[in-house]
Amino acid sequence: MSARNSDGIRRVGIVGCGLMGSGIAEVCARAGLQTLVHEVDQAAVQAGRRRIEQSLTRGVERGRLAADERDSALENLTFTTDLADFADRDLAIEAIPEIEHLKLELFSVLDRTMAEPEALLASNTSSIPIMKLAAATSRPDRVMGVHFFNPVPVLDLVELVPSLTTDDTAWQRMHAFVSRTLGRHVITSQDRAGFVVNALLIPYLLSAIRMFESGFATADDIDNGMVRGCAHPMGPLALADHIGLDTTLAVAESLYAEFREPQYAPPPLLSRMVEAGHLGRKSGRGFYPHPEKGAST
Ligand code: 3HC
Repeated sequence: MSARNSDGIRRVGIVGCGLMGSGIAEVCARAGLQTLVHEVDQAAVQAGRRRIEQSLTRGVERGRLAADERDSALENLTFTTDLADFADRDLAIEAIPEIEHLKLELFSVLDRTMAEPEALLASNTSSIPIMKLAAATSRPDRVMGVHFFNPVPVLDLVELVPSLTTDDTAWQRMHAFVSRTLGRHVITSQDRAGFVVNALLIPYLLSAIRMFESGFATADDIDNGMVRGCAHPMGPLALADHIGLDTTLAVAESLYAEFREPQYAPPPLLSRMVEAGHLGRKSGRGFYPHPEKGAST
């Protein structure tokens, strides 16, 4: 059964079912929304579906979710490899890798595909200006950023980011959708690189990488310093692995390009690790080994 909401959003589409997209799809399906998930091919669809099923099953095992809630969330989910299926969506949320030309192409395709007159287009980007994405569409008044945090099912914050051209009615609908329908805590940021959270978090992660790179302390000691000394849930190097070193680098580069401040400049070690394919949890290796190997995007 699908929810009827005052924001008018019942049918949502999520593009990308990696680390972030799978979490966003899970949260939407659990809120009772008809949730269509797009991935590039059948293998990626199967991997994304498995990730959501495992997360929901873990919720049941941990007593956070009843078995019938998991089953109805799964019933709310459908998968596709064809963006034409997004024609009837009230809202699409893009969560593909942080590659600008791919996102611009996608926004242009979604704009042509989504036929509902009031349909909204949103991006989970953490590094690309929302204004650029909006300008790739014929509806820049209905494009905005909705930035979730990893792991999405656990962390209830969403940054909402209007561009210079976002219309106030569209903004209010999105705010109602995220805060009431999804039950998330909303903070608002201007369309500036990093928004609020990454603009504060990334310089801290880069400082830890520089500290490790210079031999100042071991990875374990840096992380334990912040976990045991400041009660953070994980240390900065473990957190960089958790976010993905490619994503950490992409956000750092966008912050540096925008503000030109040394605190945002990526340390050479981060660039070399990404070039080596050591991307953290998603690739099986980062500052730490991750034999469990998680999502691909
Ligand atoms: N999906 C669903 N549930 C998950 C999960 C996932 N991927 N990962 C963990 N959980 C749940 C567990 O089931 C558990 O639930 P329970 O308490 O009801 O049993 C709870 O979260 C705690 O998990 P664990 O016991 O397995 O492990 P930890 O206590 O070590 O917590 C963590 C793991 C939730 C990842 C915690 O370490 C944490 O919050 N770390 C900080 C993460 C963070 O800072 N994220 C923000 C990154 S920045 C970002 O995303 C922006 C981007 O643009 C870069």
